[in-house]
Amino acid sequence: MPATVILGTQFGDEGKGKVTDVLSDKYDVVVRYQGGANAGHTLFIENTKIAFHHIPSGIVRNKISILGNGMVINPPQLIKEMDEASKYGFKTDNIKISRKANVVMPYHKDLDSFEELSRGNNKVGTTKQGIGPTYIDKVARTGIRMEDLLNKESLSEKLSTQLKIKRGLYNLYEQPFKYTVNELLKEYMNYGKILSHHMIDSDVYINDMLMHGKRVLLEGAQGVFLDVDHGTYPYVTSSNTTIGGAITGSGIAPQYIKRVIGIMKAYTTRVGEGPFPTELKDGIGIELQKKGHEFGTTTNRPRRCGWGDLVIVKTAVILNGITDIAITKVDTLADFDEIKLAVAYKLDGEEITHVPSSIKDMERVVPVYKKFTGWKELTDKEWNAIKKNKNSKLPKNLLIYLKFIEKYLQIPIKAVSYGPKRDQIILNPSIR
Ligand code: IMP
Repeated sequence: MPATVILGTQFGDEGKGKVTDVLSDKYDVVVRYQGGANAGHTLFIENTKIAFHHIPSGIVRNKISILGNGMVINPPQLIKEMDEASKYGFKTDNIKISRKANVVMPYHKDLDSFEELSRGNNKVGTTKQGIGPTYIDKVARTGIRMEDLLNKESLSEKLSTQLKIKRGLYNLYEQPFKYTVNELLKEYMNYGKILSHHMIDSDVYINDMLMHGKRVLLEGAQGVFLDVDHGTYPYVTSSNTTIGGAITGSGIAPQYIKRVIGIMKAYTTRVGEGPFPTELKDGIGIELQKKGHEFGTTTNRPRRCGWGDLVIVKTAVILNGITDIAITKVDTLADFDEIKLAVAYKLDGEEITHVPSSIKDMERVVPVYKKFTGWKELTDKEWNAIKKNKNSKLPKNLLIYLKFIEKYLQIPIKAVSYGPKRDQIILNPSIR
């Protein structure tokens, strides 16, 4: 059976969790393949707001939910999330964890904060979840993997090496070092014990599922322009949020992936630092922030807001082979008299339609906009009527907006989400 990937086309927080939740009904397995507790997937189920940081959104439909090898996992936080999931009545037995995933240790979180502080004005604006320092250890080949939490000897050996290195780093940052091998060994072996029956060889498991005709949904975290290679480096996260990350982070072969759904918020938001060509620092930006409830799920930081940017979305489509778009939060733009969409950038007098690889250039580009008129704000009743009747049309101005996006991106929009709740979405809308 083919696999489907869902990924964010902007800077994260596009509404991937909700779309994954809606689509996961038709899948057997949902896999997260990169990132860790820096992600915040918010779901509204029957008026209850549920936020997961590690657990794939498929858990709320009691699907097999896998934390893939490309993830970095903070065990105490994951255990807490699993307890919460179980309180909501979700079957946590369905949660499977790759033995190969790397472990976020408390010193990684400390180092994340120290590093940010030392960067001064050049800070990245990380979520301080220890993501970068954990991936540093992974790539340095000194990282602790989930499977190490099941083997006292191996964990003890790795901790001894790690603590020596980390003590040196704490000295460099002039910070007191408070960890001992014995204490961490005891604490993390205990987490290993709690999580042991969830740990599997996830790549073998997922491939087996695919070979047996099961449907696999790969759920991305963050967004294309936070990718460590293709994003606005260095203002990025430390993993590959793009399609390659879905393959290495889950262990499946590319030929399985037949559909790549790009999630595009109808406007753009960004948390943390980094270039943002369509950012609105005026009242309109504040209005978007308020209407769209744009505050971070993980850090509660206000998100920077701006107009939609088709240059970044088109670049994301090309980089990832995105086959179709799910557009979210069209309700937030409904009442605006004038809506803008960036269709090109001006750079040194020339017009370009791709994201420049140089961060310095990305900081200088000036968006070229196309203007649209807002659409009437619809009540839930009106949306429902549109949903029920295949022949009824979306509001005229919204159709103009969506048609333009489809034409620009050269791929169809297959979902229009108009609110946070599960049922506030139209699948396969008639746009043409
Ligand atoms: P880190 O992933 O915590 O290292 O943060 C690196 C950058 O990615 C910062 O700008 C964060 O704000 C951003 N970031 C990380 N995770 C998310 C997310 O889930 N949504 C939006 N931005 C994120």
